[in-house]
Amino acid sequence: MTDQASSRILVTSALPYANGPVHLGHLAGAYLPADIFVRYQRLRGRDVVFICGSDEHGVSILLSAREEGVSPRDIIDRYHQRNKEAFEKIGMSFDNYSRTSLPIHHETALEFFHDLKEKGILKQRKEKQLFDEKAGMFLPDRFVMGTCYHLRSDGTKCEYPTAYGDQCEQCGNSIDPLKLIDPVSVLTGTKPTVRETTHWYFPLGDYQERLEQYVEEHADVWRENVLQQCRSWLKEGLEDRPITRDLDWGVPVPTDDGSKKVLYVWFEAVLGYISSTKEWAAKQETPDLWKEYWCKPDTRYIAFIGKDNIVFHCLMFPAMLMAKGGYVLPENVPANEFLNLEGRKFSKSRHWTIDLEEYLEEFPPDLLRYALALNFPETKDTDFYWKDFQARSNNELADILGNFINRTVHFAHKHFQGKVPPPGELNERDREFLATFQATADSVAQSYESYRFREGVGRTMNLARAANKYFNDSEPWVTIKSDPVRCATTINISLQAIHSLMIFFEPVLPFTSRDIRSLLGFPEEYTFHWEIGYSPALVEGHQLGEQKILFEKISDEVIAKYVDALGRLPAEEQEKTWPNAPLKSMITIDDFGKIDLRIAEIFEAERIKKSKKLLRLKVRIGEHERQIVAGIAEHYEPESLIGKRVVVVANLKSAKLFGVESEGMVLAATNEDGELTLLVPERDIETGSIVK
Ligand code: 2FM
Ligand code: ZN
Repeated sequence: MTDQASSRILVTSALPYANGPVHLGHLAGAYLPADIFVRYQRLRGRDVVFICGSDEHGVSILLSAREEGVSPRDIIDRYHQRNKEAFEKIGMSFDNYSRTSLPIHHETALEFFHDLKEKGILKQRKEKQLFDEKAGMFLPDRFVMGTCYHLRSDGTKCEYPTAYGDQCEQCGNSIDPLKLIDPVSVLTGTKPTVRETTHWYFPLGDYQERLEQYVEEHADVWRENVLQQCRSWLKEGLEDRPITRDLDWGVPVPTDDGSKKVLYVWFEAVLGYISSTKEWAAKQETPDLWKEYWCKPDTRYIAFIGKDNIVFHCLMFPAMLMAKGGYVLPENVPANEFLNLEGRKFSKSRHWTIDLEEYLEEFPPDLLRYALALNFPETKDTDFYWKDFQARSNNELADILGNFINRTVHFAHKHFQGKVPPPGELNERDREFLATFQATADSVAQSYESYRFREGVGRTMNLARAANKYFNDSEPWVTIKSDPVRCATTINISLQAIHSLMIFFEPVLPFTSRDIRSLLGFPEEYTFHWEIGYSPALVEGHQLGEQKILFEKISDEVIAKYVDALGRLPAEEQEKTWPNAPLKSMITIDDFGKIDLRIAEIFEAERIKKSKKLLRLKVRIGEHERQIVAGIAEHYEPESLIGKRVVVVANLKSAKLFGVESEGMVLAATNEDGELTLLVPERDIETGSIVK
């Protein structure tokens, strides 16, 4: 095992594809947990380098470019810049944010490729592949779609009609495109032919035993979800993996037949961590410094990812590093599960998403960092609800942390000329409270060291809770008259607590910590160390800074605006698409057949408090009753709907909207002026009747 005592730590976060904006689901996966970890380690004085960058190759970039009718270069330039800026604004403290289109990355990836080739590890193999005759190209990965051929664990057929050529999104299995039922080219909609091509293969199977040993050596520290996935892959037996593709976007590699091939995006993207570290070292004119982190065996390497990246980081990448030799392997790969949004998966195409940029236009970064951290999907999928976000901000950050700091500092300004009063003689209660500073620090440290960030942040907030209680119990507003020396002691200790909170909250609330620093009257150069939060640090007579409210409350109206916007086309896009909104891409009759449309009768309807747009409806579908939240409040009075028969999607997975369960969807039509009408049957027909 790696030496835990080493203070040199390399931390990477999965490189996001530069083909779309980063959203809250991404942030809660591989980014914010890593940032909290890194900030905490830096406070402990450890030598950390924190690496990330854009993943700019692969079929997903090509598909986005095609969808927008622009070049792949346009796509990556746009989203690299936008994501980099959004990450900065939310406080991600990367030491370097690189891009895989840079020459330094191409060189690094090719060096790996050539080294493995020269060692005879990589093998060339002829194989059959799907080919689009109309487009004149092979169809790797997501360029082809078809019906899934896998059997589920219960023996039933998956038969998902839109499985991609690399993976089926329904059963999660990886796909051999040649086995897809009724494959079609995503490019031209034609049926592909089969042609022969040559590819380079990495012999993952040869690393089976070493990988088994590697995984089991870490079994006591890796998360259960990570271990389970690795063990299940290993149990199935690892197979050789092709590491090249017939594409002209990526890192070009030489071939014997002179055909255009690039490295498979996953083979080179993981090497992006190394090239980004090289770029970081070069920027500070110490070009060899990257080796300290990647090649010294006592480096602790921690790779933060989302659960969909486990196999590449825990098996493929370590095997590549073993093959190359001389590199450290990840000591831990803390993979989060997924964060969903108000009961549904994040989806760009369905406008069921919150982009980081959009969030940052309205709210300060720390509110989100805090709300997400307490809801990280560390052991299972979790949901982001706007109402929870509001409650965390108002009831915890503002009412507990903000309130304690505000009333202490206010008291000090009012009664002690804005200076730290003398500590006086300590009583039992004072000592008991002071002892919680280090106890908190130790327990939070333990949480962070074991990648339990929810727990660590919760424990930090408990110190603010204890501080409020101490302030209340000590009643300084009484003792200021009855026992001014005691009052001075209470305020002194409360100010010391603010100083400790400033330190311990820094990993999750870095912007607020800086505000607290100026509120306590410290200059920007005042350096934070974890240990200075253990015990009183403010000297008697120290002049405090200006007062400032740390957290503004978020109103119901603002929250309602965001909930209402979910699932809707943003206004500017609506304008672009009307009056002749382009038709969505074709679906099959099987796709349509999955939607269960029924006639339903509305028997209850009421407005949802604080929401301008939403109504809560109760409908009858045959014998069943359902509650449906519908965005029609601006178009229909609730009373006018009672007894109306409408068309509903009866098999839509339920979701909470504005905290209200919705078990379906009512169909309505809208035009370019935003007028809306419900779809109603032309003649009376029983509820429950099938619409097709
Ligand atoms: O899943 C993704 O978003 C990938 N772009 C992650 C790559 S991580 C590493 F390989 F760079
Ligand atoms: Zn499937």
